[in-house]
Parts: sequence; structure tokens; C-alpha cells
Amino acid sequence: MGEEKWIHTASKTYPVYIGQNIWQEAGQNLLSALSSYSKVFVVTDQHVAALHKEKLDALLAPLNEVIYYITPNGEEAKSFTVYEDVMTRAIESGLDRKSVLLAFGGGVIGDLGGFVAATYMRGIPFYQFPTTVLAHDSAVGGKVAINHPLGKNLIGQFYQPEAVFYDTHLLVTLPEREMRSGFAELVKHALISERRLLDTLMASYQKPEDFYKNDLTPYLAQGIDVKAQIVAQDETEQGVRAYLNFGHTFGHALEAYGGFKRWLHGEAIIFGMLFALRMSQEQFDLSFDLANFEAWLTALGYTTFLPKDVTFENLYQNMLHDKKTTYREVKMVLLQEIGDLAIVPASEETLEHIFQKMKHEGA
Ligand code: NAD
Ligand code: GLY
Repeated sequence: MGEEKWIHTASKTYPVYIGQNIWQEAGQNLLSALSSYSKVFVVTDQHVAALHKEKLDALLAPLNEVIYYITPNGEEAKSFTVYEDVMTRAIESGLDRKSVLLAFGGGVIGDLGGFVAATYMRGIPFYQFPTTVLAHDSAVGGKVAINHPLGKNLIGQFYQPEAVFYDTHLLVTLPEREMRSGFAELVKHALISERRLLDTLMASYQKPEDFYKNDLTPYLAQGIDVKAQIVAQDETEQGVRAYLNFGHTFGHALEAYGGFKRWLHGEAIIFGMLFALRMSQEQFDLSFDLANFEAWLTALGYTTFLPKDVTFENLYQNMLHDKKTTYREVKMVLLQEIGDLAIVPASEETLEHIFQKMKHEGA
């Protein structure tokens, strides 16, 4: 049986339904909610459409007007060009203020679809139908955005969905690399909450095949709980929500350096967390077995050493575009202990020192 959780934010309270067969279990709730809208506009990508559109069609069959917009796969869909094209289709399809958008896919589709919903006619309701491991993070909490070539998620909004329907059975078709990328955000949720969750993940997932053998659903549900607790306190990132950005200052800078193509989001976040962990050890004397952690990541197939062409100067310029950077001061999210975080300003010299350390130790 699946689970129903509630996300409480200052602007909205909404349910997350999560489970291996949750579309069937929660199907009636969904249909009664969706039947009141004038049109249903589904945003999805080519992979998800090819693999799972029939299942969604079956679920939505009793509804009158369902329109699909299918984006290119991957980060490319979070571009101005695709955003404009989705908007054009929405207008041409006659979507009105009583229409609803369904974001059916991973974090890219959730972020893009949510941003379209937030801005179409100044906002129409939307639902998240996540299909990746990573989306346990992105589908909850209402951050929606597209990228600018100069930086990740720089154009966006806080805009909460009406509900999240997370059928984890859909994850079986994810390629290993995408499993690994999404698992990185789960590792983040463990590091920012409690050692026990990290220990359990380390014991249960030791090689890539384990992503498929051991049902991830209970851990994804725990990750959602970690996120829910934080967004309940701080929906719009005035304070503690920045903890969810652990690993992201460096990670986003790396993604931008790679033109949003070279590293998947989670792959970049792994580097970002290794950077932040090293800095936490230096600044807070964090007691953490980094060598053991890196060996575990390597066994799961992550790369933990930075390629030679990645220079500090490239990344520092990108870190200056980070949303946490103000008055040209980069802010880092660090661990004092697992689950005990701090946001600290970081000088260029400090960042470069950690960068060089990471390059020497990893390469
Ligand atoms: P994604 O949406 O691009 O999905 C990854 C790949 O898997 C794509 O090629 C997609 O077509 C494919 N795919 C999706 N579901 C599948 C399935 N069930 N079977 C087979 N293939 C499938 O990327 P993602 O990793 O899910 O999300 C990354 C994005 O999420 C980044 O842009 C990141 O910035 C964003 N993000 C947002 C938040 C937030 O709070 N809004 C949090 C974390 C990450
Ligand atoms: N992924 C960061 C946040 O949701 O705030």
C-alpha cells in the first residue's frame, strides 16, 4: 500500500501520494480533482511519453480534453526556447484560467511545467507526476524554474502544486545513470538530516544493481519528509531552506561550466557535496570518514575526481551567479555535524584552497 503525506507551506497545503501502485490506489481522488478543470495540459518529455504515456492515457481516459506537449529530453527543455514553445501551444490550444497543467516526468519537466503553470495567464493550477528518483526532491516544495545560459534555475518562482502523484513503479525503466543521479539527492537528504538514514543507504545500496533490486520507495518517502520539514518552516528560502542547497553552490557552477550537458544534475551535486564536506571538515572540524564515503560512491559508479580541464576560475565566476550570492559574496551550506547545518560566507581564497585540495586528493 502507498502512503499519503501532507506538505504544509505558507502559501499552500497539499498531498503527496507515493507508492508502487499509487496511480491506481489514488486514481479516484485524482479524477474527481481533475474533472472540474476546463482542459488538462500534460507536459512530458520524449522518453517518458514513449515509455509511460499509455498508462497516463488510461488513467485520464474519463476526462474530456487532454492535450500533450512533448519536450526534448533532459536539461535542454529548461530553456527559453522550449518555454516559449510550450506557452505558444498552451495559447493555441485555448487553455484558460480554469485549465490545469500536469507535469509528467523528472525534475526537468516538473521545473519547466511548474514555471509554465506559474506564469501562464499569471498562474494556473498544476499537478506533479514525478517519474525519476531525483523528482522525490524536485516535485515537492514548489521551486519551479528554467535555466539561463549563465546559470542554473535563474529564472523562476516559488509555486506549489495542487498535489503530487508519485508512482514509484515507473522508476523501473530508468537507466542506471539516471538512478545514480537521482540517488545523489537522497544522499543529500541523509547528510542534512540524520546519520541513521545515511548508514541505511550505505548498507542497502552497495553496487548499481541494488538501485533496481531494493525498492527505493521507503527511502524516497523519507527524503520527502526531510524536505517537507524544511519547506514548512521556510517556503521562500529566507533562511533554513538554503540547507536543501547543500552541495549545490559548487554543483550548479559545474553544471553551467558543462553547458548543462556534460554532467547530470546529481552527478554535479556529488562533486558539490564532496567540496562542501571538505570545507566543513576544515571550518567546523566535521567528524566524517570522507575516504569511506568516497569509496562507497565509487562502488556505486559515481566519479569523484574532477577532470583536468575544470579550473577554479571557471567555477568561481559561475558561483558568483549563484542565487545565494549577494554583494558578490558566495555563501556555502556546510555541515557542523550530519544534520546540523550552517550557511557561511566564503572568500575566493578559501574556495580556491578547497578546490585545489579536492583536485589533488581526487586526481
Ligand atoms: P530529467 O527530468 O531530465 O530526467 C532524467 C532523464 O530520465 C531524462 O532523459 C528523462 O527523459 C528520463 N526519464 C524520466 N523518467 C523516466 C522513466 N521513468 N524511465 C526512463 N527514463 C525516464 O532530470 P531529473 O534528474 O529528474 O531532474 C533534474 C532536474 O531537476 C534539474 O534541472 C534540477 O535543477 C532539477 N531539480 C529541481 C529541484 C526543485 O526543488 N525544483 C530539486 C532538485 C533538482
Ligand atoms: N532543491 C532545493 C530546494 O528545493 O530548496
